[in-house]
Amino acid sequence: MPRVVVVDPSKPDASAIADAAAVLARGGLVAFPTETVYGLGARGLHAAEVACIFAAKERPSGHPLILHVDGEPMARSLASVWSSAASRLVAELWPGPLTLVVPRALVVPNEVTGGLSTVGLRAPVHPVARALIVAVGEPLAAPSANAHMHVSPTAAEHVVRSLGDRVDLVLDGGPCAYGIESTVLSLADDPPRVLRPGAVSLERLRAVDPRIVYERETIEGDAARAAPGMAAKHYAPRARVVLAERGPSGVAAAVLGCAGGLAALVSSAAADAAAGCSRVIVLPDEPDEYARRLFAALHEADASGVETVIVERVPDEPAWWAVADRLRRAAR
Ligand code: TXA
Ligand code: MG
Repeated sequence: MPRVVVVDPSKPDASAIADAAAVLARGGLVAFPTETVYGLGARGLHAAEVACIFAAKERPSGHPLILHVDGEPMARSLASVWSSAASRLVAELWPGPLTLVVPRALVVPNEVTGGLSTVGLRAPVHPVARALIVAVGEPLAAPSANAHMHVSPTAAEHVVRSLGDRVDLVLDGGPCAYGIESTVLSLADDPPRVLRPGAVSLERLRAVDPRIVYERETIEGDAARAAPGMAAKHYAPRARVVLAERGPSGVAAAVLGCAGGLAALVSSAAADAAAGCSRVIVLPDEPDEYARRLFAALHEADASGVETVIVERVPDEPAWWAVADRLRRAAR
C-alpha cells in the first residue's frame, strides 16, 4: 500500500502539499487529483524522474506526457512558438481541462515528448494540482495514474488498486469533477486539430477558434499516430467490454449473447432489460454527468469480478463524442 494523505480538495492543507513537494524533490512519484482524472506526477524537467513514471505504469517509452503548469508564463517557457491562437485559448479555457500541443522548447526532455518536436501543456484548475505545481516551482509531468491501458482513475482508491506501491504518495482529494481526460488540441497543425476529445467540448473550442477541426473518423488512423498515447485499445478494464445497441432491445440482445458473469452499464430506460446481469449500474442520460460517472462505474464493475461488462451505446451526437471515444477503446 502506498502512503495516502487525505486533502481538502478546495483548500488543501499547506503541510500536505509541502510533504508531497518534498517527495517529488527527492525524485519520487506523487499521484494527485485534477479536475479530470488523477495524475501520476514527477518533476517534468528531470529526465530520470520522468522515466520512473513509465516504469510505474509499465507504459512503453515513446508515449508523450503532458506537462502541467501553473499558467501561461510557465507554459511559454516550455514552448518554442506561442501563437496568438494559443493566447486566446488559454485566456478563455485555462486553468482547465484543455491540453495544448505546441512546438517544444529545448528545456523539455525527450522523455516527456517521446522524441516529438512538440509538447503537451495544460494548466489544471484543481486547487490541489495547482498548489503542488506552485510548491514544486516547475512543471509536473503526469499521465493518468493507472497502469498502462487500464481505466483512468477518478478516485484515490482507483490509483491504489491500479498502481499499489509503485507510487510513493497519493493525495486523496475525493472524486474528480469531470471524470474524463482533458481535450488534447494540436496547435502544431494548421488548422488546429483535436487529437483527443475530452472534458472541453468541440463547441466550446470552436467558440474561441472556429478553425478547429476534429476528424473523428480518422481517430484510429492519423490521429492515433499523431497522439501515440491514443492506442486503439486503451481505457480498458480487466473484464471484456461489449457494446450493446442503444435501447432495451439492444441491451436484451447483448445479455442473451454473452455467457458467464455479467455486469451492465445502461441508461434508466434499459435497466429492466439488463435485469439478468449480476450487477446493473444505471448511468445518467446527460453527457457531462455520464462522463463523471463512467470510469468509476467501469472500476466498480471490474472489481465485482464479472467476466463481461455490457455497456449500452450512447447517443451519436457531438456532446457525447468524448464518452463514445472512451467506450470504443474500452471495447477493443
Ligand atoms: O486529463 C488529462 O489529460 C490527464 C490529467 C492527469 O491531466 N492526463 C492524461 O495523460 O490523460 P495521458 O498521458 O494519459 O494522456 C495524454 C494524451 C495522450 O493521448 C498523448 O498522446 C497526448 O496527450 N499527447 C501528449 N503530448 C503530446 C504531443 N506532444 N503530441 C501529441 N499528443 C500528445
Ligand atoms: Mg491515460
